[in-house]
Amino acid sequence: MNKKPTNDYPPVNQMNQAQKVEIVMDIFSSITNKYDFLNRFLSLRQDLFWRKKTVEKMRFFKSFKFLDIATGTGDLAIDAVNMHPEIKATGLDFVQNMIDYGNVKIKDQNLKDRVDLKWGDATDINYEDNTFDVTAMAFGIRNIPDKVKALTEMKRVVFPDGQILILELTTPDPGFFKNIYSFYLNSLLPKIAKRFTANPAAYEYLADSIMNFPTRSEFISLLDSIGFKNIKAIPLSLGICTLYIAYK
Ligand SMILES: C[S@@+](CC[C@H](N)C(=O)[O-])C[C@H]1O[C@@H](n2cnc3c(N)ncnc32)[C@H](O)[C@@H]1O
Repeated sequence: MNKKPTNDYPPVNQMNQAQKVEIVMDIFSSITNKYDFLNRFLSLRQDLFWRKKTVEKMRFFKSFKFLDIATGTGDLAIDAVNMHPEIKATGLDFVQNMIDYGNVKIKDQNLKDRVDLKWGDATDINYEDNTFDVTAMAFGIRNIPDKVKALTEMKRVVFPDGQILILELTTPDPGFFKNIYSFYLNSLLPKIAKRFTANPAAYEYLADSIMNFPTRSEFISLLDSIGFKNIKAIPLSLGICTLYIAYK
């Protein structure tokens, strides 16, 4: 069930951590039934290509288990099991509406014995150390105020030499394209989203959160400070998205 329209949210750089968590929960509970459609539409279906690229890079070697953090409606977990027939996937999210929506897709695609979506918090993952070969998060880390805690948790639950992949929307390097993209994000996207969702403020938040996300080199330094090795950043679609790959 979707909630009623919400008022505007404060700018991302003026929210405290608790407020941000509450706003993120409010946003994803209120846009659930339009989430997949708007993802495809507003990214011109690039989101499908970005997730495909991510699952192609996954390497399974021991448990053949994949953990998808902030799974939303489960798209990355679904893509992973379709690309890697030998694995099983679990997806965690802290918005039950998103999980329920995803579980319907999984049932419709006859994947119930290979993908399990359930409630879970990225900053307190309810699994033992060294359980998964791979953990990943697509478009989730931007929404998590305590990034170090979430990334440390991802590292804890993978085996040594296990892999983490972070897919996130980023801003292109300064230049003409960056100006066009900023115009799209801040002016066009909220107007388009207004036509389709009961909560257009969610898409103003989206633009704001992308503009406030660490740069590629800042995010690499963050991964390095947590102790990941062989860190790589792959810019996608002229840098509006970046895939980070790192190992424990
Ligand atoms: C933009 S959606 C991404 C969903 C999905 N990964 C995808 O590729 O479409 C972000 C998701 O992160 C979830 N989320 C944000 N913070 C979280 C947290 N601390 N723990 C679990 N899920 C979280 C939200 O509920 C939302 O479903």
